Amino acid sequence: MDNSERIYIRTNRLILRQFSKRDIESFYLYRSTPEVAKFQSWENYQYDEAELFVEKQSRGMPNQPGTWFQFAVALNETNQLIGDCALHSLLDEPRIVEIGFTLAREHQGKSYASEAVRALINYVFKTLGKHKVIAFTDVRNDKSIRLLESVGFRREGHLLQNYMSKGKWVDEYQYSLLRSEWSL
Ligand SMILES: CC(C)(COP(=O)(O)OP(=O)(O)OC[C@H]1O[C@@H](n2cnc3c(N)ncnc32)[C@H](O)[C@@H]1OP(=O)(O)O)[C@@H](O)C(=O)NCCC(=O)NCCS
Repeated sequence: MDNSERIYIRTNRLILRQFSKRDIESFYLYRSTPEVAKFQSWENYQYDEAELFVEKQSRGMPNQPGTWFQFAVALNETNQLIGDCALHSLLDEPRIVEIGFTLAREHQGKSYASEAVRALINYVFKTLGKHKVIAFTDVRNDKSIRLLESVGFRREGHLLQNYMSKGKWVDEYQYSLLRSEWSL
């Protein structure tokens, strides 16, 4: 691991760390998998987009109001990239943050995402001292809904035609979790 790969969070099986150049190939492979992209805004993801994304994220810092920071999610033992978790500090109210998550297809179904998201929430409330975490998901994204509800998020809203995905307006659920609802 080089110095630029700063580790922010450790769990039993995972590390959440800064993205670095050597993640480009794995990142590109899962972002360009149609099943992984199905409920996301991107489509037909290109290698040069992956290069740009990783380059930008390798210089970023979490908790900057109005920006998204992506944590690289890697296996503890090998440091292999298996997905990412996003953290968005809202510009107008940085005490509220939005999260997102993606796992490579071959690493789904092993509870890695819930392990990463639980650790991220701990970090958000304990280390960053935030008040509330929100997440949005396409209403058809059953895996994402199961993950959010299993971690303890409450569905707070059904937002009609709230984002453009693959050329169509789609509905989203908004989920929330308050600091007072999370045992630190
Ligand atoms: C959303 C996403 C991260 C969820 O990933 P996931 O692998 O289903 O979630 P987890 O890692 O928490 O794993 C939970 C599943 O693993 C199963 N599991 C846990 N440990 C297991 C084990 N040892 N062996 C087999 N299965 C296991 C659980 O039973 C659960 O399955 P279920 O959802 O069918 O009940 C993933 O589907 C994804 O990356 N999707 C594409 C991107 C996306 O849409 N992101 C959301 C945007 S809002």
